[in-house]
Amino acid sequence: MAKVYVFDHPLIQHKLTYIRDKNTGTKEFRELVDEVASLMAFEITRDLPLEEVDVETPVSVSKSNVLAGKKLGIVPILRAGLGMVEGMLKLIPAAKVGHVGLYRDPETLQPVEYYVKLPSDVEERDFIVVDPMLATGGSAIEAIHSLKKRGAKNIKFMCLIAAPEGVELLKEAHPDVDIYIAALDEKLNEKGYIVPGLGDAGDRLYGTK
Ligand code: URA
Repeated sequence: MAKVYVFDHPLIQHKLTYIRDKNTGTKEFRELVDEVASLMAFEITRDLPLEEVDVETPVSVSKSNVLAGKKLGIVPILRAGLGMVEGMLKLIPAAKVGHVGLYRDPETLQPVEYYVKLPSDVEERDFIVVDPMLATGGSAIEAIHSLKKRGAKNIKFMCLIAAPEGVELLKEAHPDVDIYIAALDEKLNEKGYIVPGLGDAGDRLYGTK
């Protein structure tokens, strides 16, 4: 069964408070999302494998660790997921970046993919799918389906804020995908917004309305 990890690091929680604040403007909001994405990337990469190498220091030769070269892929769900990519790349610059775009079918209300571009070696990579908000879970579930359909085997999902409803549906749909969040909020409202949440993440990142 999928595990849910809440990153309760004080720096993440502090910055998240200002991200939530409706008086935080676009520039600062974008910077804060970028910083929190970096901090979350630090936490989510804790299990990366290391290998031992010899390093010659000015004093002696020593055994030391370097990353064992696991191939990573970051996949933002368009559009709001884009706001988390640069922050993550600061810590894992060798990661490749795929993109998944989804729209909601006006009749079925189900998310439908309109754009998917992934690294060609999809079967060999571990993926982190990112979206600031896990609300109903529909987009995350469909984006992960899109990756699996193309051969991805090892997937994590990371967001800033999740609603319990979305977490439950995502766990049910993809029990092999662990979920990493900065905060688990109270609920969804009748319009599908997370309460208390932060409003519309895409609009706040890009200054649209
Ligand atoms: N998407 C958002 O941007 N905000 C929400 O509260 C829910 C979905």
